[in-house]
Amino acid sequence: MKLRFWHWLVLAVCVTVSVGLSYRNLRVAQGEHAFARLGCPACHLAGGAPSLAHVGSKYDRAALAEFIGNPETVYACRGHRSLNVGYLPMPRLAASGRDVVALSFYLSAQR
Ligand code: HEC
Repeated sequence: MKLRFWHWLVLAVCVTVSVGLSYRNLRVAQGEHAFARLGCPACHLAGGAPSLAHVGSKYDRAALAEFIGNPETVYACRGHRSLNVGYLPMPRLAASGRDVVALSFYLSAQR
């Protein structure tokens, strides 16, 4: 069978989609590890902070990354008000740039 242009096109789309999905799955898994390693559950699973069970449908990935990487900036833009009524502001955490990206993928998947 002779491969035509559209065969290559379909193949290219499939490869692109599967590479994209594996990248996302890898980041979600890294984010899950970072979540435990950085001690996020200490507040978020203990009741001192809001549940993150559906946080992926509340904020987009960019907003999550911005907040985790630099909560003070987000609070400064909001006149130092907390995001959630009844909670103290979240302190800045020792998350590297790489952790922030992975955490944003992991939390985005919590819908
Ligand atoms: C010292 C306690 C503490 C730790 C540790 C902590 N958080 Fe938080 N987090 C909070 C509090 C308190 C809030 C609520 C802040 C607000 O409403 O402004 C919050 C809010 C959030 C929100 C927004 C939730 C919403 O529904 O608006 C996200 C996302 C988040 N934290 C992610 C993380 C991640 C990721 C980590 C680990 C890297 C982490 N937090 C570690 C205390 C903590």
